Amino acid sequence: MNKNIENWDAKKIANFQKDFLAWYDDNKRNLPWRFNTDPYRIWISEIMLQQTRVDTVIDYFYRFMETFPTIEDLANAPEDKLLKIWEGLGYYSRARNIQTAAKQIMTEFHGEFPKTVEEIGGLKGIGPYTTGAIGSIAFDLPEPAVDGNVMRVVSRLFLIEDDIAKASSRKIFDVAMRKIISHEHPGDFNQAMMDLGSSICTPTNPDCDNCPIQQYCLAYQENRQTEFPIKSKKAKPKDSYFVAGAIENGRGEFLLEKRAETGLLANMWTFPMEEISQEKFAQLKINFSEEQLDLFEVAEDTANFLVDYPVVWQKKVVGEVKHIFTHLRWHILVFYGRNTTDVSGTWVKSNDFDDFVFPKPQQKMVDLLENVLLRKD
Ligand code: ADE
Repeated sequence: MNKNIENWDAKKIANFQKDFLAWYDDNKRNLPWRFNTDPYRIWISEIMLQQTRVDTVIDYFYRFMETFPTIEDLANAPEDKLLKIWEGLGYYSRARNIQTAAKQIMTEFHGEFPKTVEEIGGLKGIGPYTTGAIGSIAFDLPEPAVDGNVMRVVSRLFLIEDDIAKASSRKIFDVAMRKIISHEHPGDFNQAMMDLGSSICTPTNPDCDNCPIQQYCLAYQENRQTEFPIKSKKAKPKDSYFVAGAIENGRGEFLLEKRAETGLLANMWTFPMEEISQEKFAQLKINFSEEQLDLFEVAEDTANFLVDYPVVWQKKVVGEVKHIFTHLRWHILVFYGRNTTDVSGTWVKSNDFDDFVFPKPQQKMVDLLENVLLRKD
């Protein structure tokens, strides 16, 4: 074990907890999932907060709770309705996992949120972090909830040099947190960590002058705050290249397709799109920029949907959309054209796009398209 962690005796831990919890009492943010300790609310908020900022989550959280006030409502919801509420938050597997877990709670726990670490951790989509957050906040279990913010605070507090990008480093943070967490107020303690990490113990410019635990912090004493946490560089996201068609018929409707039932962005809607090689993408882009593209020259060996849906391409190019997922970077060239052959498919007026669940890249395509359609040329 790290010696700096071992060195804390019971008295120091008690003082630390007192100072830290007093600061939290005075400074805690007034957030909607803190109005009570209902495990359902805590759970949903924690899942939303995993990859999304607090400011963004607040509105989603209210809408989610209004739409699915109980675990049973969530378990019984049509998937489309759930994805619609989640639209824009990204990482849609989170929404699907939440529903699977809601069904688990209905069948295995008679609709009541389970109360033990083992049972909570056995729910779909709930890992050690979320187990700790729900367990401590809703049920007063002295479980750590170690996320990126907590690792930053704790690595500075104890000068922990383990690489936080490695899964194996988690253990040391878990050990440190178990040593210092308050057994009387574990939920407040964990949330104090979260608030300190987001307001004071920030990555580049920590506000140590206003830190309630400055006197305990080894990084502060050595003036090495910004050296921590130690984090190796992530691998670069993989690039993928696509062409997509915004294809309109004579009735002013656009062709939409539902994505496959499995895999990335499963069951969500898109304009027809197809992956192409980086070389082809580069070639198309040059043609676009020079506004000299005859799409059909490149169609046959570029995108099958251009063969399936014959179109007269009108404005050559709508534009380029880029979107970064965790490990992927999508580059999409979007065309706009008219179909005159009345191919069968899901044809939708742009006013009705709201009824469909679009992932982020597709929302960006809609924005581009709206600009182009408003443009007079
Ligand atoms: N980030 C993750 N969980 C949080 C919570 N409960 N409150 C504020 N920020 C958080």
